[in-house]
Amino acid sequence: MSHFNSDFYKKRKKTLNYIVCNLIVYYICGRKLLKVMALLEDLKWRHAVKAYDPSKKVSEEDLNKILEAARLAPTSSGLQPFRVIVVQNQELKELMVQGALNPEVMKDSSQVLVFAAWDTYTEEKIDRVYDYHTEVRDLPKGRFSSYTDKLKQMYGAQTAEENFAHTARQTYIALGLAMAQAAELKIDSTPAEGFSNKVVDEILGLRELGLKSVTLLYLGYRDLEKDYLSHMKKVRIPMEEFIIKK
Ligand SMILES: Cc1cc2nc3c(=O)[nH]c(=O)nc-3n(C[C@H](O)[C@H](O)[C@H](O)COP(=O)(O)O)c2cc1C
Repeated sequence: MSHFNSDFYKKRKKTLNYIVCNLIVYYICGRKLLKVMALLEDLKWRHAVKAYDPSKKVSEEDLNKILEAARLAPTSSGLQPFRVIVVQNQELKELMVQGALNPEVMKDSSQVLVFAAWDTYTEEKIDRVYDYHTEVRDLPKGRFSSYTDKLKQMYGAQTAEENFAHTARQTYIALGLAMAQAAELKIDSTPAEGFSNKVVDEILGLRELGLKSVTLLYLGYRDLEKDYLSHMKKVRIPMEEFIIKK
């Protein structure tokens, strides 16, 4: 009998297989667990930065990851009723600071993302989105017409202000995902509603695009000396108070 067919060898092979399988399972589960923990750590790490180092810029590659996270945000009926305008031109940023709560933060940030929502829903906009869906999914055009008819009826019965209140709400989901992706890349961000919508809309010509600014997201790298929040604890109400179990 050859050495390789011996009982001893077969047993050893079985044990080795068992160990390798277990190691693979531990590796996959461990990585998953680490990923979950990493997201929470990233969220604890981030804060709304109050001073950026103007000499540090977010790379195009990282910026694209943050924008992709925003693009992947779920939206009501999948309409994606907003756009993200990337402002990195210093002159434009300096014009946009008029009426801003934190002008220095805006000026010194690497990029300003402007989350701007549709000023209202229209039949054309809804059709355009659903024509695109059928095209991408290789379905016959009009496949969703009974659904889009309902959307058109629902939004058609509302005022432009009511529709904008709905489109604007969608932007906050994308804002949150963009912030989380930035944190994962150890890029700082500051969400900001403290700015003049009128100024920003005018400077960026948003009205002509059927858009209205909702919120900004400043991106960049914190200035550790000037950003007073960097040295403070994160404050959130306790879990027992935040979560209401029924
Ligand atoms: C929708 C929204 C708007 C905000 N607007 C501003 C703003 O205009 N200026 C500012 O300094 N911070 C702004 N913040 C940041 C909050 O003050 C900050 O997120 C909050 O105090 C919690 O702190 P943390 O993000 O540092 O953990 C805003 C946050 C959100 C979510």
